[in-house]
Amino acid sequence: MDAIDVIRAKRDGAELTPAQIDWAVDAYTRGAIAEEQMSALAMAILLNGMTRPEVARWTEAMIRSGERMDWSALSRPTADKHSTGGVGDKITLPLAPLVAACGAAVPQLSGRGLGHTGGTLDKLESIPGWRASLSNEEMLDVLRSTGAVICAAGAGLAPADRKLYALRDVTGTVESIPLIASSIMSKKIAEGTGSLVLDVKVGSGAFMKTPEKARELAETMVAIGSDHGLRTVALLTAMDRPLGNAVGNALEVTESVEVLAGGGPSDVVELTLTLAREMLAAAGISGKDPADALRDGSAMDVWRRMIAAQGGDPDAPLPTANETHQVFAPSSGTLTRLDAFGVGVAAWRLGAGRARKEDPVSFGAGITCHARPGDEVKEGQPLLTLHADDPSRFDRALESLEGAYEVEASGAPDLLPLVIDRIA
Ligand code: URA
Repeated sequence: MDAIDVIRAKRDGAELTPAQIDWAVDAYTRGAIAEEQMSALAMAILLNGMTRPEVARWTEAMIRSGERMDWSALSRPTADKHSTGGVGDKITLPLAPLVAACGAAVPQLSGRGLGHTGGTLDKLESIPGWRASLSNEEMLDVLRSTGAVICAAGAGLAPADRKLYALRDVTGTVESIPLIASSIMSKKIAEGTGSLVLDVKVGSGAFMKTPEKARELAETMVAIGSDHGLRTVALLTAMDRPLGNAVGNALEVTESVEVLAGGGPSDVVELTLTLAREMLAAAGISGKDPADALRDGSAMDVWRRMIAAQGGDPDAPLPTANETHQVFAPSSGTLTRLDAFGVGVAAWRLGAGRARKEDPVSFGAGITCHARPGDEVKEGQPLLTLHADDPSRFDRALESLEGAYEVEASGAPDLLPLVIDRIA
């Protein structure tokens, strides 16, 4: 097999054979295909796409590049959720313990944030003592004792994807739907969950800016799931405005704990409950209403045990930023726009996110939104509080908020519905 033949075939619009795909993914993982050859192949895939059999085989080859986890020793059915990422998307934090409290086991391998969307591990690492890296045995122990575990994926899981994703990141080939879908699904299938709910975000703060693109990605991932015998459901959900009121690591942990305590912003509660119901149905668990587990404190109990099992202190005060700066409503009227991308970039510039993989994040940095699109506001009332350790960050953050919010004397916001569509 020759790398140049495989590149030429995809460049000229041919369907790659299973043997070509298996060889290309394996040879790249072993270092037998050069980075520049894989970047040419990734670009040919981005431009010419892949058929359903090609995507299924590519995903399979990436799964086979590493270990496959196995939770058959657990007495409960497993369920997982994956979000394509958004601004203020802290849903995993209340969701995993909630679904565990209703009887499923939730093995959740999560990532760190890059760019304007946050990462679940960065959020949890703001809890003093909490540890993201667990061995497979430790993961099983936490799952057995609490029902849920959220931790970092080990280096042995889909190493082909790890290498390819880093290459795509620097070659303008992230945005290929077959490559995104196979990247996400190879990790989720290798993780060994029995059922999967995908939260595909749509809007300015998401990867997929339009419902059409998001639907294409969701349908591709659901098809990969069914081709691999994994029960997979996808929801398309709104990311034209931030989710909830808090954007930033420790701020989002605080908001998640409010949800677990039975409070929290209505959109975070609604999406958490919707996804929990989908996960329980996909796992074959009936007769439990997750709303009861928020009301009766059982989800909070799982959260506290899950955090403590990974070395965290659920009662410890969370880090706060050294400095704050307020943004006030410029006039009285309705807040008609609060753009997710603008708020996400501002939070990132305040220190909540990182520009390069190796950068640290500031746990206390971020933004608190005091009004939601549709709310009536009075001139001079606080709209946003910016939090940063270093006050020199405020100017750049304020630049990205220019034009990101709008108050109009009359008019209603033109918002996407929180749940736009369901694909199964
Ligand atoms: N997340 C992933 O894991 N892979 C992609 O390709 C894009 C987002």
